[in-house]
Amino acid sequence: MSQTTSRSLTAAYRDQFPTSAKLFERGKRVFPNGVTHDGRFLQPFPVYIESAAGSKKYDADNNEIIDYWMGHGSLLLGHSHPAVVEAVQAQAARATHPGACHEQEIEWAEAVQRLIPSVERMRFVNSGTEATLMALRLCRIISGKRKVLKFAGHFHGWHDLLIPAADPPYDTGDFSMPGITGGVLDDLVVVPPNDLAALERAIDEQDPACVIVEGTGGHWGLVPMRGEFLRGLREITTRKKVILIFDEVITGFRVAPGGSQGHYGICPDMTTMAKILAGGLPGGCLGGRADLMAALEFDNPYGKKMKHPGTYNGNPLSAAAGVAALGVVATGEPCRVANEMGRKLRTDLNELFERKNVNWIAYGEFSGATIVPNYEGPRPDSDAFIPYNNSLVKLDSKIDSKLTHAFRVALLMGGVDFFGWRAMLSGAHAAADIDQTVVAVGDAIDLLQDEGLIR
Ligand SMILES: Cc1ncc(COP(=O)(O)O)c(C=O)c1O
Repeated sequence: MSQTTSRSLTAAYRDQFPTSAKLFERGKRVFPNGVTHDGRFLQPFPVYIESAAGSKKYDADNNEIIDYWMGHGSLLLGHSHPAVVEAVQAQAARATHPGACHEQEIEWAEAVQRLIPSVERMRFVNSGTEATLMALRLCRIISGKRKVLKFAGHFHGWHDLLIPAADPPYDTGDFSMPGITGGVLDDLVVVPPNDLAALERAIDEQDPACVIVEGTGGHWGLVPMRGEFLRGLREITTRKKVILIFDEVITGFRVAPGGSQGHYGICPDMTTMAKILAGGLPGGCLGGRADLMAALEFDNPYGKKMKHPGTYNGNPLSAAAGVAALGVVATGEPCRVANEMGRKLRTDLNELFERKNVNWIAYGEFSGATIVPNYEGPRPDSDAFIPYNNSLVKLDSKIDSKLTHAFRVALLMGGVDFFGWRAMLSGAHAAADIDQTVVAVGDAIDLLQDEGLIR
């Protein structure tokens, strides 16, 4: 992060976003790096957003920006969907925290159950991080085992137990991280993705309490996993009696209304959810088989209860937003549109890259698109194409940070916000947004070429 974007690009960006530049100076005096989430850091400064609607957001200087962050994936319906806004406003006037059971939490849970039937019982928490943390502790109590198996490059939130091996390097076999104890690492079994033989061997040798997986592959399909592997995973974990957790924090209600498990027809033992679950407000959930979730009950067959407090569990504002959002998700329309727009963005970007004769490609599945700059290999021949033969080390590798910051800055100047090299579509994106985005990416490439940052 020591490198900065080049001076002329920076000067033009500063001219277009003067208020954001000023706000960042204030932000730096209160937040490390001036930001509240590592991913929002941008050099020379991030853009400060004042309002948003549908597929667009508007900054403090009234620039209109087509958004591909979509609330870090939580806004499948787009920004400020009227049904969600109305539900939250009505609930805020009624009660924001009764400190008691309330009907909305039951309606929220029933809406989840209708879409994801493997969730026979559930508990609400406040984020995806909390949900996966809770899942692991519950599995340890149920199984009496210590170890947890995860796949290299899969992200399950930022708590100690699963943040190791979420990011490269993967080929050193050393997953130690600042602040994470050796005890935590001893209890973590890391297996390469898409390798059923390695998975079975690790289960036999390490005897884990559970296996946790991102249903479409690490980092929301950066390194895709497909149905064949997932079905093999289910078969092996069933045969070996190891609890299988689908982390549907990002895939849930997005890939399909029933998540990746619905799409691939797989029934996991437990599921973690967040993001779309709460309609863009904070919220998470752990759910699964009733006999497993029973370990949360005061009298249960395990003779041990998992303690589960949490001031904001099932809070009525998130519940109201969640009920409203899941009601719209249930129509199937937002997933259909988001997936269709994802395919259009990938296809149109690949046409652009070919036309401009740059060695970039786009790939992805469902409502996501990922650009690979400086790509060496054959161009995609279909939307199912996975570059580099699905190599973890190649696909999930650090891209030059100077180029990454410059690309985002150049795109923002063209009225488009990608998260790094990636885009997340929603049901609010329309073909005109994609057309405008492709023009902006083309202009960004020209700027980067002018700056001498790409060939
Ligand atoms: C698959 C997955 N699991 C867990 C998390 C963590 O969720 P949260 O950011 O709500 O803590 C994320 C967040 O992006 C995620 O994508």
